[in-house]
Amino acid sequence: MTNSATLSLNGEEYTLDVITGTENEQCIDIQQLRNQTGCITMDPGFGNTGSCYSSITYVDGKNGVLRYRGYPIEELAENASFVEVAYLILYGELPNQKQLCIFSRSLEEHAPIHTNLEHHFSGFPKSAPPMAILSAMLNLVACFHPEVLDVTSEGPEFDRTAALLLSKVRTISAFAYRSATGKPFNQPNPFLSYCNNFLHLMFSDPYREYVPSKTIEKALNLFLVLHADHEQNCSTSTVRVVGSSRANLFSSVAAGVCALWGPLHGGANAAVIAMLEDIKASGKPLKHYLDMAKDKDNPYRLMGFGHRVYKNFDPRSRILKRHVDEVLKELNTSDPLLEIALELEQETLKDDYFISRNLYPNVDFYSGILLRAIGIPLNMYTVMFAIGRMPGWIANWKELLEHNQRISRPRQIYTGHSIRSFVPIEKR
Ligand code: CMC
Repeated sequence: MTNSATLSLNGEEYTLDVITGTENEQCIDIQQLRNQTGCITMDPGFGNTGSCYSSITYVDGKNGVLRYRGYPIEELAENASFVEVAYLILYGELPNQKQLCIFSRSLEEHAPIHTNLEHHFSGFPKSAPPMAILSAMLNLVACFHPEVLDVTSEGPEFDRTAALLLSKVRTISAFAYRSATGKPFNQPNPFLSYCNNFLHLMFSDPYREYVPSKTIEKALNLFLVLHADHEQNCSTSTVRVVGSSRANLFSSVAAGVCALWGPLHGGANAAVIAMLEDIKASGKPLKHYLDMAKDKDNPYRLMGFGHRVYKNFDPRSRILKRHVDEVLKELNTSDPLLEIALELEQETLKDDYFISRNLYPNVDFYSGILLRAIGIPLNMYTVMFAIGRMPGWIANWKELLEHNQRISRPRQIYTGHSIRSFVPIEKR
């Protein structure tokens, strides 16, 4: 088996090392390429570029495989709580009973937010998108805990900071919703599970404690577990790029929230529901929407379809599809959008445009229907994704520091003017 590659360039031959990962995935090491040849590589969108070594998450897009720290997503989705998964992603091993107890206690201890921080929510206009509030508030919360700005990747300070962030993101998200809807804040209840505490923060009223059913709690847990990490996606890469300047954890993940916001990434979960609502309201046949998505002159895309890495199926979408149906049955309800979604998926499976481009439902296609069943408002969907993705962002930031990774600084090929002389304004 070869462990090097040969590059022939301008009459010279160069030998490049080939690096092999745990699962036999291979990569050509070009770290010395510019020094040796004067050349750089071009890969907009980084579809063929490995930016780091990581032992957190493994994705095999061809075979629809996703594992956190070696554990298959199917097993974690079936058996694990989000708090266990967060611990696993952060520390590399599943927690034992004692570790889980300490970690959970730490999460609950950090759930309340400073009273002065609460006042900031009223400064946002009612129409402010919750993702903007979340990103701003993550930077702000660090101002109230200045010690977190100096935290590195290990020791009790890191443990405390990671727990603080995982917990505060939940409170801030719920407060963003309460504030935008003119409702009073609920204070966290340390006796509730991570998921139930979030639902309490969101939906309890002064005279009526919200008590979710087991089905709702399980559905939220499943959603968070499925979103907990996904290797070097757009928002995680953003966290790493920002963190590579040795920016603190809070500003790094606040940048991750901004990257997640876009409709091609986390924003797709809300865009899918908007699309399905539009299909339902218009009464137009699905073919109309498929034709728009296939038309090169039309920017319209089927939201929730396609993925940079998964080229066969997204295992998270399969799990969600199965559970959405179960959850709706257990709640003794139905959702007309699920019918439309199932039909749409069937139509694409018969359509050569989608088949030839390997465009299948991704995690966002069915997740919105699950969030609807839980009762989460549409403008909070991407915020829910951010809460779920927080363990992955923190773990990638930690790993970046542990590996002492160089500052991110890609190169470019310049295509502008060649040198020219300044022309005084009267002569232009
Ligand atoms: N509807 C119609 N055509 C599509 C779609 C779609 N959803 N996605 C990709 N295509 C076409 C695209 O036009 C291109 O066609 P051609 O080869 O003729 O030019 C081809 O498929 C390849 O697409 P691409 O844009 O080069 O693929 P990418 O890897 O750069 O983008 C993607 C991946 C997820 C951004 C894209 O598939 C997309 O925009 N999907 C819709 C938005 C979405 O659901 N995003 C959530 C992603 S999963 C969760 C997450 O990570 O956030």
